[in-house]
Amino acid sequence: MSSLNRTDRPYDLVLFGATGFVGSLTAEYLAAHAPKDLRWAVAGRDGRKLERLCQRLPGGADVGVLRADVAEPASLHALAGHARVVATTVGPYVLYGEQLVAACADAGTDYLDLTGEPEFINLMYVRHDTRARETGARLVHACGFDSVPHDLGVYFTVRQLPEGVPLTVDGYVNVDAAFSGGTLASALNQFARGRQLLAAARDRDRHEPRLRGRRVAAPTGAPRFAREVGAWALPLPTVDPQIVARSAKALDRYGPDFRYRHYAAVRHLPGALGGVAAVGAVLAAAQLPPARRWLSDRLRPGDGPSAERRARSRFTVRFVGEGGGRRVFTEVAGGDPGYDETAKMFAEAALCLAFDDLPATAGQVTTAQAMGDALTGRLRAAGITFRVAAAHPSSSPV
Ligand SMILES: NC(=O)c1ccc[n+]([C@@H]2O[C@H](COP(=O)([O-])OP(=O)(O)OC[C@H]3O[C@@H](n4cnc5c(N)ncnc54)[C@H](OP(=O)(O)O)[C@@H]3O)[C@@H](O)[C@H]2O)c1
Repeated sequence: MSSLNRTDRPYDLVLFGATGFVGSLTAEYLAAHAPKDLRWAVAGRDGRKLERLCQRLPGGADVGVLRADVAEPASLHALAGHARVVATTVGPYVLYGEQLVAACADAGTDYLDLTGEPEFINLMYVRHDTRARETGARLVHACGFDSVPHDLGVYFTVRQLPEGVPLTVDGYVNVDAAFSGGTLASALNQFARGRQLLAAARDRDRHEPRLRGRRVAAPTGAPRFAREVGAWALPLPTVDPQIVARSAKALDRYGPDFRYRHYAAVRHLPGALGGVAAVGAVLAAAQLPPARRWLSDRLRPGDGPSAERRARSRFTVRFVGEGGGRRVFTEVAGGDPGYDETAKMFAEAALCLAFDDLPATAGQVTTAQAMGDALTGRLRAAGITFRVAAAHPSSSPV
């Protein structure tokens, strides 16, 4: 059963965690851009904060307010039962997220989040995918900068290449931005859980049906100077390549043999080495509780980059796709990746699930699988660039 049939519910969309940094930006985006007849509510654990949020939203008097706390499972079941789509920013998801996924899977309610935590995604697949398929709920993780530009960017690139042949795509991410307390807390928590991360991946592997008749891989590439983009390419071990690989497994259009590699693109070598050293230092610090606490105290929950800093932030992801004798260069680009554009991607994905004519899917699905064309169209209309680009001058012919 699709959420399109759930018109008996009081709300089309409920935004849980609306009082947080990215939650407030998402609420502001919805208030400014959602269709006027959208029936929506903000939800969270602090009723007064929610009321204050509504007071400053244009049209906030018409926005519902629902109190819910992750420590009170009944309140999450009530949320899931009140909406066709629930969007949640309450993270770290591996600590706070599961009960809401379970409630949505049970109620046949479409669910989306902003997690970049592979452990959480794998655990939710093992524990809730089957139930969601039974009820028709679509569970869509990673609907922010993790992993929408990469997942939809590869989807867009693949569609520029011939059908039915082996394809390779490399993605090169370039970001100039700052991050929030919530992002830092989620990253530190995931960095400290290496053993659990591997165990969840193995568990998923045991449960997930094997892909038959096609091959999909997302290997870690080697650091190198990439002439195709004229920059140093460093393998980027985020959740994104895993999401891209899941889309490739779900969609035959990615061809009989598909490979994706994901890199950070850095123009100057000292910058590249500095980046590697900084990530290594944070990874090491995350293993030691006192160092982890010290780091997380630098940026508290609710804090994040100022509007001025966000206005200066940009992202570009360049893709190089090859197959069937063709090479194509594409680009996805926008403004502040972690917050302004994440709020846009998240809100548009929620509206897309609620209103657009989409392929029939259920269970744990990716953005490309569940909403590929419709969400790409929405994001383009909202100012995010998806385009075929010219070859870089230093790239060699196919
Ligand atoms: N994928 C991406 O690209 C991307 C980008 C940005 C953020 N994120 C992720 O999004 C999440 C939120 O980030 P953020 O910076 O917005 O964090 P934040 O400002 O700390 O907001 C967290 C939200 O969770 C709520 N919350 C915490 N504990 C709760 C509980 N027990 N019950 C109900 N609500 C609870 C908070 O409510 P109160 O206001 O009452 O404290 C707040 O609304 C993080 O996991 C972050 O990693 C992902």
